[in-house]
Amino acid sequence: MNATAHDRRIVDQFTRWAKPFADLPLHAEAEAMERTLAACALTADADVLDVACGPGILACAMAGQARHVTGIDLTPAMIQQAEARQAREGRSNLEWHVGDATALPFADGAFDRVTTRYSFHHMPDPAAALAEMVRVCRPGGLIVVIDATPAPDKQAAYDMMETLRDPSHTSALTLDQLRAIGREAGLREAVIDDYRLAARLAPLADAQDMAALNALFDGDIAGGQDRIGVGAWRDADGIGFHFPVSIVAWDR
Ligand SMILES: C[S@@+](CC[C@H](N)C(=O)[O-])C[C@H]1O[C@@H](n2cnc3c(N)ncnc32)[C@H](O)[C@@H]1O
Repeated sequence: MNATAHDRRIVDQFTRWAKPFADLPLHAEAEAMERTLAACALTADADVLDVACGPGILACAMAGQARHVTGIDLTPAMIQQAEARQAREGRSNLEWHVGDATALPFADGAFDRVTTRYSFHHMPDPAAALAEMVRVCRPGGLIVVIDATPAPDKQAAYDMMETLRDPSHTSALTLDQLRAIGREAGLREAVIDDYRLAARLAPLADAQDMAALNALFDGDIAGGQDRIGVGAWRDADGIGFHFPVSIVAWDR
């Protein structure tokens, strides 16, 4: 694989963050997971692919409802976390690959469900990843994307905040932009859902980013206009905010 500078940034960021990311309860939050699994409409005979699977949180949850789940991620350290999670949970119906979402090493139509969570906002060209997800999904199967979707008038401020928090951030699509790349890929919408994921800033940011990030959030809170679009607040535990997440499922 000919890694781009952005790929290297992804692998660098998520190698450092593999363990903390895997351990954060936020990423396995029960209601969010329930809504996600509902949108995936899994069946006991389904073969599933989770693209940019990270530490396998969604993949392992889906494995409880499907025949077999394959996870693929660009970052080897994330795949190690996924293997550890699978072992801890004692599951046998998963396999893992290191690889790129825009060049999936799987045959056309190989899967009944193809999912990706919290990944498109790390990609320079999410439509290219969606095209690959469509290719490897069988006709009649389901493709599910879960990601933060800022409101159109907050997108620029949201991207600025996220880039400061995580330099591998590219841009979070608005819900309309996400729906548009699905339409352009020839997909038919099956489910649209959303949830707001309450988060604390400190465990999600590198120490060297904290002064600038705190200032950005404090300015947003003081301004009282929610410019970043995450409903930020500060209390005795520090800064809190909500990720605005959408779930879009399409029929292939
Ligand atoms: C925020 S994490 C989300 C992990 C997991 N999907 C979850 O929801 O818990 C983003 C993941 O996307 C992966 N990633 C980013 N760009 C990728 C690409 N082009 N191909 C494969 N994985 C990618 C990163 O390595 C990282 O593990």
